[in-house]
Amino acid sequence: MTTQTQDRTPHRLVQINSSLFSGQGQSSTLADQFVAKWQSAHADGSVIRHDLAAEPVPHLDGARFLAFLTHPEERTAEQQAVVAYSDQLINELRAADTLVIGLPLYNLGVPSQLKAYFDHIARAGETFRYTANGVEGLLTGKKAFVFATRGGQYAGTPFDSQTNYVRDFLGLVGITDVQFIYAENLARSGGLKEAALAQAQQELAALAV
Ligand SMILES: Cc1cc2nc3c(=O)[nH]c(=O)nc-3n(C[C@H](O)[C@H](O)[C@H](O)COP(=O)(O)O)c2cc1C
Repeated sequence: MTTQTQDRTPHRLVQINSSLFSGQGQSSTLADQFVAKWQSAHADGSVIRHDLAAEPVPHLDGARFLAFLTHPEERTAEQQAVVAYSDQLINELRAADTLVIGLPLYNLGVPSQLKAYFDHIARAGETFRYTANGVEGLLTGKKAFVFATRGGQYAGTPFDSQTNYVRDFLGLVGITDVQFIYAENLARSGGLKEAALAQAQQELAALAV
């Protein structure tokens, strides 16, 4: 009798929606649709969803950053709480194999809510480390899907401030397999919005999960 080794590692997905409009956002809607597709492919999978508009991650200030830097045994109770919160966000990602981000474009940048989340998962010694060869990301072996929605059209132009930033940030923490799905021209009329959403839907349907 031959036995086959099966990968029984449970599938785990972390979803970050960063629209100001929570689940009503166009980026959230696309991200939610993708997660529903993922869930039907992984009946045993688990999903952690963060709606950063409903439950904002605090902005990183000096006190919070100092808490990260303070030696564990010297942290005050307040500092311990700050670090425990960041640790929880990081541990979710550590355990996940898939990351999904709903990414609207606001005032030519990423939502400040998403930046605050990123600032809480960028921790030297935890999600990246300094080596003789430069910075090494530690959250390896994951795939990220980013659903980027914009009023205008920027992808592939020098005015797209988001794609490189998000790719670089995820690379910093070791997530190097990143796929962007764009829905642009959503503030434009003449069928451009509808065409963009239809195109994004097609791409979403074709994504391997
Ligand atoms: C506060 C705010 C700022 C925006 N700034 C831009 C912008 O700089 N460029 C752009 O193309 N669209 C901009 N938009 C349009 C959004 O990118 C677009 O509506 C996107 O689909 C929003 O995603 P969401 O519905 O998931 O929040 C802005 C929208 C809002 C609410």
